Amino acid sequence: MSTLKLYSVDPEKFINHDKLPCDVYLKLGPKKFVKVIKQNSEYNKEIIYKYRDMDSSVFHITKEGMESLKQFEVNLMRKLSRAENLPTESAIARNLWTVQLMQDQVRELGVTDTVIEATDAVIKDSIKSLKDETTLQDLVDGIMRKNDYIVEHSLMISYIAIEMCQRLKWNNSATYEKIALASLIHDCTLEDPLHAQLDTKGMIMDAPIDASTKKHILNHPQDISSIVQQAKRFIPDVDKIILEHHERPDGNGFPFGFTGTKIHPLSCLFIMTEDFVNTIYNSQLSPDLIRKIKKDFEIEYNSGNFRKVLEAFQDYFDNFLNQSPGTIKV
Ligand SMILES: [Fe+2]
Ligand SMILES: [Fe+2]
Repeated sequence: MSTLKLYSVDPEKFINHDKLPCDVYLKLGPKKFVKVIKQNSEYNKEIIYKYRDMDSSVFHITKEGMESLKQFEVNLMRKLSRAENLPTESAIARNLWTVQLMQDQVRELGVTDTVIEATDAVIKDSIKSLKDETTLQDLVDGIMRKNDYIVEHSLMISYIAIEMCQRLKWNNSATYEKIALASLIHDCTLEDPLHAQLDTKGMIMDAPIDASTKKHILNHPQDISSIVQQAKRFIPDVDKIILEHHERPDGNGFPFGFTGTKIHPLSCLFIMTEDFVNTIYNSQLSPDLIRKIKKDFEIEYNSGNFRKVLEAFQDYFDNFLNQSPGTIKV
């Protein structure tokens, strides 16, 4: 065993599978490892849950195992993306899993064809859910399960942003692909959900975290944007949306501190959608909440390239309120 070079692996990468394409070892001491999962054999997940909760860095695999696991995930993602005509509920469950795999893959391998194929599957499902008149409450219940903020808010942004594109008549497949891909991967280099919820430079600087973590969070728009730029099949504007996703209309965002006139219209759509998703993620969805968001948006986003998107959001909010029981229609 001592001749094997082993690398720590996050158990979240393999907990959802029944069999793995590689052996997994548990670290018992500085040079002491024991094999707990045998390649291609069914395994007992109890041991993973038990040790994961104590210390998630105790699981190790070889370098070759790492490569096999990556390839295994690429194949799995491809298989998941190709399942067609799923009912909305199953499609959402599939997409939550796909987005998790996708974010790992972008970090490790970049924006591959498999990532784009998976994005297209999410777009198809979003359009189908609109045709099926899936409600906002259904999306909240299906997607925002409070298990994995980074995956869940990314998928929710994608669903809502595509609906907004339809309302704005920006409804062509190229635009859908730009906004959906940006949504699904925009925070993929952040692993801690708390870090992904730090929206402004001020929140990051005030957070009780070390300087290098602050730098990593502040740089994630540039880091992920440059991964997108290196893709073999470069999709224009995705890098820009990701680069600008923490800008704010009043110029208090980062990395540039642009105001509404300088921020790309698709970035404006993204920023407002993420703001909306974060607000409903942390609250109970209700007509009162939507009325409050509507008021806040009117004040906050009434400038530059945000203005047009604001109109679409106002319609969206009115539509929600008109369909809510107990709401007086005006
Ligand atoms: Fe985010
Ligand atoms: Fe972010």
